Amino acid sequence: MNVSSERSKSIWEGVGATAARLQGEIKAEVAVVGSGIAGMSVAYELAKAGKNVAVIDRGPIGGGMTARTTAHLSSYSDDGFRELIDTRGLEAAKGWQESQAAAISRIEAIQAELGAACDFRRLDAFLFLAPETDPGVIDSELVASAQVGMIALRQEGVPFTGLEATPVLRFPDQATFHPTKYLAALAGAISRSGGHFYSESPVSSVEEDENGVVLTTLEGARVLADAAVVATNAPINDRLAISAKQAPYRTYVVAFEIPHASLPDALYWDTLDPYHYVRLQPGEGDFDILIVGGEDHKTGESNDGDARIRSLTSWTRGLVPQLGREKARWSGQVMEPMDYMGFIGRSPGAKRVYVATGDSGQGMTHGAVAGLLISDLILRGGSPWQSVYDPSRKPMKAAGEFIKENVSAAKHFVDYLKGGEVASTQEIAPGHGAIVRNGLEKVAAYREADGTLYLRSASCTHVGCHVHWNDFEKCWDCPCHGSQFAPDGEALNAPAFSPLRKIES
Ligand SMILES: Cc1cc2nc3c(=O)[nH]c(=O)nc-3n(C[C@H](O)[C@H](O)[C@H](O)COP(=O)(O)OP(=O)(O)OC[C@H]3O[C@@H](n4cnc5c(N)ncnc54)[C@H](O)[C@@H]3O)c2cc1C
Ligand code: FES
Repeated sequence: MNVSSERSKSIWEGVGATAARLQGEIKAEVAVVGSGIAGMSVAYELAKAGKNVAVIDRGPIGGGMTARTTAHLSSYSDDGFRELIDTRGLEAAKGWQESQAAAISRIEAIQAELGAACDFRRLDAFLFLAPETDPGVIDSELVASAQVGMIALRQEGVPFTGLEATPVLRFPDQATFHPTKYLAALAGAISRSGGHFYSESPVSSVEEDENGVVLTTLEGARVLADAAVVATNAPINDRLAISAKQAPYRTYVVAFEIPHASLPDALYWDTLDPYHYVRLQPGEGDFDILIVGGEDHKTGESNDGDARIRSLTSWTRGLVPQLGREKARWSGQVMEPMDYMGFIGRSPGAKRVYVATGDSGQGMTHGAVAGLLISDLILRGGSPWQSVYDPSRKPMKAAGEFIKENVSAAKHFVDYLKGGEVASTQEIAPGHGAIVRNGLEKVAAYREADGTLYLRSASCTHVGCHVHWNDFEKCWDCPCHGSQFAPDGEALNAPAFSPLRKIES
């Protein structure tokens, strides 16, 4: 079984705090929806400043994408600074880099302050030229890095077979940590500051009125708050104002044993698109763990996760012959914004509702930026990086192509006109799902190992795109804005919160 096919476990064990299902009505100064790195960073900054916060999550605390991250902490853009400058202009690119570097420093300071045993360390990051990619990219990124104010050093070679002389950019002073150990430390600190946690409580509406914000869960419990922060990875309070400006991508990871000290402890990325990302996690005893990711694709547009894992494995074994046995494999989702910068700040059209989303493959630092930026907006009314991440910003001309290619939901509605993937549910093997046509309707059909058949509408409960079966994760994926649903239709990933509609057979 893939580790990712189990619902992620809570970070609670060992923290000494509690989380309960939200019931009845509670009051809080700030309600934070979502307990990943973004929500917890905001909650920590506000609780530390004396605000009474309530953190509400649909599942366990800290069980979202943050539990699946590979935790490279970098202020280099994984889309490249040349692209960032060309798309958003030099000033915004400088602000982006400055805020991402500040985020790493903030994580460093917090974990030190809390004495968090989260393996935080500063280290070098290497961007290396992959064979058959444009050699000009290294020099062009060297220049662009200098333009935005990031130190980058041109050198040769990474310690991978065949790449000993490849052109490389080294970025000193980047970092890594263990994400759920860090979240656990934040949870403990929030709790000690009087914050409360509510798990297994999906929020279904976030409404502003003249007195504040009212949040309601699917089960009808309510939170009355002065302000709310929606940090659900993809925003549950948005139909298209932000969702139409970002696209979901699935990315894959394999972790291997590697003899201790075989490779320098560093972050490594290549210049392929999609790129590979590699780092070490110190192990106990004779082995470290090498964590390798990549093989990304647009969510819902491929259903070949095992093949992608095989491809990652053979790429890694080719470069690192001393690699030991596989320890784990998983996948997850990242939200790619139209112009390479996340959406963090006041939710479009709102006064007291804030949002953090669109963090690309750099959600750890984006989450910590959210902590700084949103707490500044709430406590002080402004932030130096407000315009960089403004969720209401309009697409710039350079982002037009991205939107056409990736975000246009229109092409996914065409799926409704096609036939089913199988002619009848008889063709669906146990443990698999497929789309079946039932008259005018498309049905998402899943057959359990014991033969039980689940029939659900294939129409995503966010804004109605057509879901696709994901055999690797055993779930239904929505290609439009990243919702995921369990085989029985339960919503697993935002922006959707309602289950897929049941179809009577
Ligand atoms: C495989 C992989 C590797 C990655 N590697 C890196 C990396 O090296 N460096 C990096 O910086 N980033 C990386 N990322 C990206 C990063 O992990 C994410 O961007 C980041 O974790 C997102 O954090 P978040 O707080 O926004 O979302 P999450 O951690 O997903 O938290 C959102 C929370 O909101 C909750 N929620 C959703 N809907 C509701 C609702 N209706 N009501 C209540 N709660 C709700 C969820 O249950 C969840 O707990 C990686 C991502 C993946 C998948
Ligand atoms: S996630 Fe928006 S329509 Fe499915």
